[in-house]
Amino acid sequence: MASYDVPFGVAIDFATGVMEDADNVVVRHASDLRGYYSDADAMEALIASGDPVHYRVYEKAIPETEGHLLFCMSVLEPGSVGEEFFMTKGHYHTVADTAETYLCVKGSGFLVMKTSDGQWAAEPMEAGRMVYAPPLWAHRSINVGDDPLISFCVYPAHAGHNYGDIETEGFPKRVVRGPEGPIFLGNVA
Ligand code: F6R
Ligand code: ZN
Repeated sequence: MASYDVPFGVAIDFATGVMEDADNVVVRHASDLRGYYSDADAMEALIASGDPVHYRVYEKAIPETEGHLLFCMSVLEPGSVGEEFFMTKGHYHTVADTAETYLCVKGSGFLVMKTSDGQWAAEPMEAGRMVYAPPLWAHRSINVGDDPLISFCVYPAHAGHNYGDIETEGFPKRVVRGPEGPIFLGNVA
């Protein structure tokens, strides 16, 4: 494995999101998102139809220690489970007061964010738009377009991922297909 204590560069294809020589490629299939969508029957039908890839995350194995930065390419496929657009699991960082930036390079969607004390926000993700998730804000990307939603993310290397709290709490809003575009549904204003 390369040393990441010396300078290096990597090639990234913005058309596909593929990072050349990625050390890790996290591949999440539909079945990895079981329980995340409101329409459980639609999810089972999607899994039965071949359990397609939901998203991929390309990373370099940079040491997860304070001082380093982790960066990745996230490629979220288009589609919906029932009427709910494909999304990532979403997480807080384990070191909760660490931020993250997302630069969208292709596609169309939202970065939906929330805090544990009930605030929420949704920032549009469009090619060339950078979205900032501040410390303490959980974040999830949602693809509302017809193409993959591709983003480049950077965050402190010691941040870690806390998925468990989102599995328990969910997000206050779901993004569903409406007659004239995406609609935010939820019981929070
Ligand atoms: C890293 C980060 C992104 C996501 C990726 C997949 O902190 O926020 O790189 O990891 O978009 O989403 P999750 O990790 O929620 O499955
Ligand atoms: Zn994150």
